[in-house]
Amino acid sequence: MKDHHELSQIKLDPEHEPVRNHTDNLPFHQVLAARMQRRTVMKGTMGAALAGFMGLSLVGCGSDSDDDDESGDPAEGGGSAALTLGFEPVSPTDANQVTVPAGYTASVFLPWGTPLAGGYPEFDPQGNNTGAQQEQQVGMHHDGMHFFPIDVNEGGNSSAEGLLVINHEYIDQGAAHPAGPTTLADGSRPADEVRKEIAAHGVSVAHIRRSSDGIWDLVHGSAYNRRVTGGTPMALQGPVRGSEKVVTPYSPDGTRTRGTLNNCSMGPTPWNTYLTAEENWHGYFVCRDEPMPKEYARAGVGTESRYDWELADNGADEYVRFDATRTGGSATEDYRNEPNTFGFMVEIDPFDPEGTPQKRTALGKFGHEGVIFAPAVEGQPVVCYSGDDRRFEYIYKFVSAQPYRADTADGSLLDTGTLYVARFNEDGSGEWLPLSLDDAGFVEKMNAAVGSRVGDIQFDEAFSDQADLLLNTRLAADIAGATPMDRPEWGAVDPETGEVYFTLTNNSQRTEDDVNAANPNGPNPNGHIIRWAEAGGNHAATTFDWDIFVFAGESGTQTVVGDSVLVELDQSNLFNSPDGLWFDGDRRLWIQTDGRWGEPWGNNMMLAANPDTREIKRFLVGPTNCEVTGVVTTPDQTSMFVGIQHPAAWPADAAEGHSRSSVVVVTREGGGVIGA
Ligand code: FEO
Ligand code: CA
Ligand code: CA
Repeated sequence: MKDHHELSQIKLDPEHEPVRNHTDNLPFHQVLAARMQRRTVMKGTMGAALAGFMGLSLVGCGSDSDDDDESGDPAEGGGSAALTLGFEPVSPTDANQVTVPAGYTASVFLPWGTPLAGGYPEFDPQGNNTGAQQEQQVGMHHDGMHFFPIDVNEGGNSSAEGLLVINHEYIDQGAAHPAGPTTLADGSRPADEVRKEIAAHGVSVAHIRRSSDGIWDLVHGSAYNRRVTGGTPMALQGPVRGSEKVVTPYSPDGTRTRGTLNNCSMGPTPWNTYLTAEENWHGYFVCRDEPMPKEYARAGVGTESRYDWELADNGADEYVRFDATRTGGSATEDYRNEPNTFGFMVEIDPFDPEGTPQKRTALGKFGHEGVIFAPAVEGQPVVCYSGDDRRFEYIYKFVSAQPYRADTADGSLLDTGTLYVARFNEDGSGEWLPLSLDDAGFVEKMNAAVGSRVGDIQFDEAFSDQADLLLNTRLAADIAGATPMDRPEWGAVDPETGEVYFTLTNNSQRTEDDVNAANPNGPNPNGHIIRWAEAGGNHAATTFDWDIFVFAGESGTQTVVGDSVLVELDQSNLFNSPDGLWFDGDRRLWIQTDGRWGEPWGNNMMLAANPDTREIKRFLVGPTNCEVTGVVTTPDQTSMFVGIQHPAAWPADAAEGHSRSSVVVVTREGGGVIGA
């Protein structure tokens, strides 16, 4: 049993994810000699190189290639005229409030516990709401979110009414109950506490409307208002559907499961549905099998769970399923396979409140931080990107087998296609490596690996089918030879150039001996942002060119190519641990942080960047101990929704020990585009 202090540490440690990838893909020492040109150097405050090594830079990534003229040339400033950062930057601060530039306001909206659905049960600030009540209230620990204009499926773009869909990544057990989580004398937990904690996870769909005086409010009683929780019935789709590895007592044919968990970031699809990511799903389960099945071992499933839900005192099926230890004679007699039904991207249609969420297994199973779609092109495949936020894990891309047709497109496009993983070469090029038993190159590598250790995992049998491969996505990526990254979090696609940006939040465990060109700092305490251009501007391409957009760090941290200082951070924009990332309609790149606080950083923050000039300005600082995560605006960009997760003592009216994660709505006094 974990004590409260331990739980707090887990809760607040942005690096709590264990390291499981011990492969030596692309060891840096093998490639250093090959890459002595066009390098980006990170320099520090003392004028000397802080990091021993450098990432490559294609200044204006893509402009060095002959075949990708369509991707533009950011170095020469191909941006839209509207791309300005016209606000006065906010200084670092540890003030326990949301700080925004002069002329802006930020107001709390839809905090944890807001009555949202069903009987709209009133929130109890001391934590006395029941599990059933929490199932009808906004969840905890807001994360990725998206605003769907209410008329978007009719081709409209309302900025006054829509569905705000919000992820709830995890929970604060201390705040959820009057005196924290209870453990009974026999080691079990009161079942209603467990029910409440499961209900505080998942997703909220909130129908919201802006009044004539500019105030946003929930549309009380709307049929769209909905909670999806860690217990909501869901369907499995794609290659894993029906696999023997997802057979459970709940679903003997392996087509269904219950709930979505650890919903970090998300991605709206081109057909206006919402894909929610299941990130650190492994922590919810226990498995005491020896040896641990390889798909659990590689993921980090342990012998203790994060919240002890499997110990609910009523022994109900919906709770004991979190114990994946083999106790019965077959998969229909115990929950040995339950963890195989988490770790996916899950599609929710916010406009269909009765709809069953669909787990899209073809997109892979790993610690999905989120997903970002390339702009859909009629007649071309649908393409989306997803990072696996764990130290030394990978960046993936899915390319649909079927072409996009606007009039018929739906989630079934995500059920057949090719999952690729990224390899970043030292010369600034990159490759997408297919993870498919239909790919001869992959099959050759897989067969060569049989009987050997892949990282920590003994790989004794070739994957039996694509479902088996997908349930072991990380292992397949190890075998393919992907590049281990510094915790890939959110991605964003430049709406004009098509370049793809990803945050690499930090990696305290990378050493000088295992740096690679794309992750050149060992250790990497502050993180960086990488970007690439697909060959020929085609998102389905299998090669790309990459560079490093910016190294995060203290004042004086420089991102340098040759003699050119591309960015030098100062008080107006120093930051660490980039996490959230989003392009607004004018191509402002919004960067949110989930990192260390205190001197010189202040609290976690959100900055805006110009992707052409690399000008960066701090726009918002969150309250004490929070992470700033989740950002979207209305189509007219006059209202911005920003997520504030796990604040220490906030908002001001929260009961002591019962802080409330929340959305804040940012507007400009007198109206106007946010950030312009
Ligand atoms: Fe949920 Fe990786 O942040
Ligand atoms: Ca994150
Ligand atoms: Ca993070």
